Amino acid sequence: MTNIAVLVSGRGSNLQAIIDSIESGYLKAKISVVASDVGDAYALERARKHGIDAVFVNPKIFSSKELYEKEILGILKTHDSELILLAGYMRVLGKTLLEAYKNRILNIHPALLPAFPGLHAQKQAFDHGVKAAGCTVHFVDDVLDGGPIIMQRCVEVKEDDDAETLAERILEQEHKIYPQAVKLFVEKRLRIEGRKVKIIQP
Ligand code: GRF
Repeated sequence: MTNIAVLVSGRGSNLQAIIDSIESGYLKAKISVVASDVGDAYALERARKHGIDAVFVNPKIFSSKELYEKEILGILKTHDSELILLAGYMRVLGKTLLEAYKNRILNIHPALLPAFPGLHAQKQAFDHGVKAAGCTVHFVDDVLDGGPIIMQRCVEVKEDDDAETLAERILEQEHKIYPQAVKLFVEKRLRIEGRKVKIIQP
């Protein structure tokens, strides 16, 4: 079974979706550790409720991103983590983690990439006036929200939406596609070919 590490910074609803899909038997994997750069992130509590090791790594006590990520790397090694999931982790990854886990880091982003990378993607999309918004699961590389795309889901923008109602409906879809994409990864059904990700049929 694939050992997963999840990096979080906030409420952890995507973490919860992954936990639920493991507990229901949909996803044959194990979350060995959840790490956060925010001490009171609710995601840490969610992990502990499910008996998962949850650690706060305080970025403020490290003099560089490299040293901070080396600390995280040590924790992931101790937990034999083979795959990293970013689930609302609000830091841009540096070389240390990217090189150690090349092609083994996934992220969920609340927009149809490559449109609207970065922060507040749902509001960016809403303010732009798009008619179709959505979410994306992608591999993480050194370009912010720019790695090869694994899965996307469209969410229609309704006439009476505001940025918040749109974000809520996008989030519902995030909770569906993140477990699906992770399942493909753990079943070794993803093959990166340049910018494209081929999904291998079982
Ligand atoms: C989600 O919208 C995710 O797409 C983005 O950050 C948010 C995290 O939410 N990367 P949660 O912590 O998983 O509830």
